Amino acid sequence: MIVKPNNSIIMRIIAVFLQFICFSGCILAQDMKPITLNPPDLKRGLPVMEAFSLRASATEFNDKKLTLQDLSDLLFAANGINRKDVSKRTAPSAMNAQDIDIYVFMQEGIYFYDAAKSILNQIVAGDQRLIVAGRQEAFAKAPVMLLLVSDISRFKMADDAAKLDAAGKDAGIVSQNINIFCAGTGLITRPRGTMDLEKIRSILKLKESQRPMLNNPVGYPVK
Ligand SMILES: Cc1cc2nc3c(=O)[nH]c(=O)nc-3n(C[C@H](O)[C@H](O)[C@H](O)COP(=O)(O)O)c2cc1C
Repeated sequence: MIVKPNNSIIMRIIAVFLQFICFSGCILAQDMKPITLNPPDLKRGLPVMEAFSLRASATEFNDKKLTLQDLSDLLFAANGINRKDVSKRTAPSAMNAQDIDIYVFMQEGIYFYDAAKSILNQIVAGDQRLIVAGRQEAFAKAPVMLLLVSDISRFKMADDAAKLDAAGKDAGIVSQNINIFCAGTGLITRPRGTMDLEKIRSILKLKESQRPMLNNPVGYPVK
């Protein structure tokens, strides 16, 4: 014998289903809160020549989380806005294209650095550091991995080869800002070209013009 569910049961199932969707949406919205960064501490760090003397690529990271101040200062040094009146940055860029965006991978998820608002907007929940580490999995231990993505559509020149050339140079400068900031403040980092490009493109839903160029895992020294 086949028992047909009556309309009220079907309506109740649909209602429960809709409540579930709404509830999980609310949880998601709550979890994806932006992180408000602190103003940069402009007085910290070693004299610049001492920082140069210490600059080195780290080979090993521990998983101790960065303080909010360290994270805030790191991002300001990397590519923050240092001249608000003209909206220019700590890193120069070819033709002032400001093509480099920073995606911040942490245990909690992936964040987009909004330099103008000085906030991190979460775009993906959950730990995705392994896809930045790529085949060098040990680097996923670093509490923060900064992924430098150039949007080459911000260059006005005609051919893609010239755009990519400028993008590589701009990413190199942002990465070196990170290297010198870390050397001068007791943090460690390593500039890296290795990463899982395919998975990064897919999880970040990158446009064709957005090119992951380099990444820097950042953390505290392993004692
Ligand atoms: C553009 C660039 C890409 C790099 N890619 C990687 C990488 O994928 N993996 C890695 O372990 N190190 C990478 N490095 C770090 C170099 O291996 C490192 O800088 C070099 O060995 C010199 O060591 P030092 O930075 O301590 O002076 C990269 C460095 C640069 C500048």
